Amino acid sequence: MDLFIQQEMLSLIDMSIKIGKVLFKNPIITASGTFGYGTEVSSLVNVSKFGGIVTKSITLNPREGNPPPRIVETPSGMLNSIGLANIGVDQYISKKIPLYSTIGTNIIMNIAGTTVNEYIEIIKKVESVSSNIVGYEINISCPNVKRGGMEFGIDCDLTEKLTESLRKITERLLIVKLSPNVTNIASIAQSAEKAGADAVSAINTVVGMSIDIHKQKSKVYTKLSGLSGPAIRPIGIASVHKIFQAIDIPIIGIGGITCGNDVLEYILAGASAVQVGTSNYRDPGIALSMIEEIKLYGEKYIISSISDIVGVVSSNTK
Ligand code: SIN
Repeated sequence: MDLFIQQEMLSLIDMSIKIGKVLFKNPIITASGTFGYGTEVSSLVNVSKFGGIVTKSITLNPREGNPPPRIVETPSGMLNSIGLANIGVDQYISKKIPLYSTIGTNIIMNIAGTTVNEYIEIIKKVESVSSNIVGYEINISCPNVKRGGMEFGIDCDLTEKLTESLRKITERLLIVKLSPNVTNIASIAQSAEKAGADAVSAINTVVGMSIDIHKQKSKVYTKLSGLSGPAIRPIGIASVHKIFQAIDIPIIGIGGITCGNDVLEYILAGASAVQVGTSNYRDPGIALSMIEEIKLYGEKYIISSISDIVGVVSSNTK
């Protein structure tokens, strides 16, 4: 066979994945809070090449977020305590949703609330307008707010009740974003699945703290904050592994992804897709290079579809 044709055939790894009824052109999605509302970097990066973009968390009312300092670098990671700063759902609908009509990739709206009713109200408002948002990521895992946030994500019953209520009001994708700051993340994932979630995403940040010894105070205003970046990758992968044993809906792996090999670790552990977060601050196009790296891996190991290797390491123990 002609060498060129042979190479073309080998490189034909099918990168597409399905979550619920939604097709993603590849498994690389940008993570909430690291890519704005999805439109800010379109002059720098061809965002249509991503499998999807998750927006920053949108709340019912606009929020200024926590006082500064709210970000600090740590060895192999970053602490943040933004406090869900955002423009609120009404402005999101009027100013951002119209910009998505030509974006060329799947937009997932991340939402956060302090009560079940707040989450419901946000989704009802979005459902009442025309948009090409493919679904919602339900943030039940923000460690940086006094009310709501992680309160839901550490309790199986609250997770189930919230997911069930939201399932009743939308047919769009419902992805429940889980916290690693729990004893048993798999049981929270089971509650989300039981209540009708289409997928779970894991993990949100790990609670952390860093102290300026000279000023003798916390480097972040709220003292405790959320750790992301490479330091948490093994925690994310272990979480995906545990969740994969416990549920049948897709998992979106998050935490410390810096390159294609990191993506593959998550996929082999059981993730159908991944979200790239903190790395976007170094290079907003970094996730695009991961797509190419995975294609090379597919060629090397003659994999016809990325879905074929989801969970192969974890399924041995399922
Ligand atoms: C924040 O806004 O403080 C971070 C959001 C999150 O961790 O979910």
